[in-house]
Amino acid sequence: MSAAPQKAKAGAEKIDVTVDAIVRVNELVTRFEFVRSDGQPFPPFSAGAHTVVEMQDGDRTRLNPYSLMSDPADTSRYAISVRRDDQGRGGSLFLHTKVKVGDRMVLSYPVNLFPLDLRARKHVFIAGGIGITPFMAMIAQLEHMGGTWELHYAARSRALASYADDLVARHRNRVHVHYDEEGQAIALEDLLDGQALGTHVYVCGPKGMIEWVHRTAEAHGWPAENVHSEEFLAPQPGKPFEVRLCKSDIVIKVGENESLLEAMERCGVDAPFLCRGGACGQCETDVIEADGRFDHRDHWLDEEDHASGRKIMPCVSRFVGPTLVLDR
Ligand code: FES
Repeated sequence: MSAAPQKAKAGAEKIDVTVDAIVRVNELVTRFEFVRSDGQPFPPFSAGAHTVVEMQDGDRTRLNPYSLMSDPADTSRYAISVRRDDQGRGGSLFLHTKVKVGDRMVLSYPVNLFPLDLRARKHVFIAGGIGITPFMAMIAQLEHMGGTWELHYAARSRALASYADDLVARHRNRVHVHYDEEGQAIALEDLLDGQALGTHVYVCGPKGMIEWVHRTAEAHGWPAENVHSEEFLAPQPGKPFEVRLCKSDIVIKVGENESLLEAMERCGVDAPFLCRGGACGQCETDVIEADGRFDHRDHWLDEEDHASGRKIMPCVSRFVGPTLVLDR
């Protein structure tokens, strides 16, 4: 992540919205467009920002982050695209199967952990699958500003390449789509070597793709600050564990399919967050006492922090053992 996170308190900044349109993009991806329920314009956002969508699924509140893909200059609506994940924890399935046009929902104010670096002479975007969404907003922003950009988009097949036809139709010379099924791949080394000084590269997609771009760029002499990536990790299930929260003076149980952050929220503990995906640092929590093994899954803390056992990121990380006491 290339930008310092903005400070925000959990639950403090929310927008009541109404679902205005639901558009099936392909077999797996659906776009949701929201307007404000009070008829006011949305707060402006910068391309690369995400919003956390609050979903009331029975007695469970789901909070999932999604990149805003709409044109940042359009304050009349926000749009997200959601890939259905049948093996996931249910947020995307809820959106795909339960949400209807006219439903009232709640979004968080946008937060940008993946901004454009506007000092760049040129912006090269590398997208994998649903990782195309932040680039839709970035392209719109740069088109308004007259910025220079190009997109390299890897998709499994033509049928699943969300928005590819539209992007190619509008920006034929700048958009290059590569279909895995047809044996096409991004020629990353050539792409990186061919860029002028002052170019920045941005990658959003599967973990392997993000690592590949960082690794290749480093090997080809790119400065780290010119390489930007976006990866939100979905919390993974794990064995249930118990946590004592000192300040709140309660003991809570973290279930198999919920994150430590979600368990705190379920128990009424006001815990901060921004990304809910191990990327922003906002939920960082001090460990008072621990007897057991941490399962650190974030990419915010460094190896030393992980090894020290004195910090945990509750949005994605877990714990195995009899005793965990946190300063929360
Ligand atoms: S909420 Fe962003 S790292 Fe946990």
